[in-house]
Amino acid sequence: MSALAISAPSWAPMSPLDLHEVSRLADLIHPDYPETIEVLAEKLVLYPAGCFVLENDDGSLAGYALSHPWRLGAPPKLNQLMGGLPARTDTFYIHDIALDETARGFGAARRIVDAIAGHARREGFASLSLTAISAARDYWRRTGFAEHTDPAIVAALKDYDADAILMVHDLL
Ligand SMILES: CC(C)(COP(=O)(O)OP(=O)(O)OC[C@H]1O[C@@H](n2cnc3c(N)ncnc32)[C@H](O)[C@@H]1OP(=O)(O)O)[C@@H](O)C(=O)NCCC(=O)NCCS
Repeated sequence: MSALAISAPSWAPMSPLDLHEVSRLADLIHPDYPETIEVLAEKLVLYPAGCFVLENDDGSLAGYALSHPWRLGAPPKLNQLMGGLPARTDTFYIHDIALDETARGFGAARRIVDAIAGHARREGFASLSLTAISAARDYWRRTGFAEHTDPAIVAALKDYDADAILMVHDLL
């Protein structure tokens, strides 16, 4: 009797060659939050150390993660070029982690959040932060993020959805 080989997809650094597939996955997973490939590509150019792809054994992609240093309380707007990273940054911002349905529920998101948190700590950041769409808010709570309730940021978040909130995970 032969053993059944089951292997989980694994995270790898994103390359420019991945961008078309990342964009296709983003359109598929986030139809209500469309972003152009140029907006996704800029994040890879500005901070490649924060961009990852989840690779299946056959080289196809099952997900991606985009993150970069930023300013707490002023999250980048959806589908807009950032034009560069701020001169002074004080939080490590997770723009998006998205997996196709076949890759969910195996801890892949948790593994990349832990890796990003480790990188952010080594770089001296005191927090991770992200804009949580309503459907993922409970997931982020379970992963150690808490709501940041600053009324000044509410307007900036309306581009995501009426319920989007800024969530912060202390690293200290
Ligand atoms: C949210 C997401 C990244 C989680 O990825 P994942 O690899 O399945 O998550 P993990 O395996 O690390 O964690 C799974 C656990 O979280 C729970 N979970 C997953 N998605 C959840 C959600 N949206 N809300 C609440 N809990 C959720 C699972 O039930 C599971 O619980 P268990 O450990 O008790 O069984 C993935 O579901 C996804 O890509 N969703 C669509 C895109 C998205 O919303 N991204 C976030 C943008 S802000």
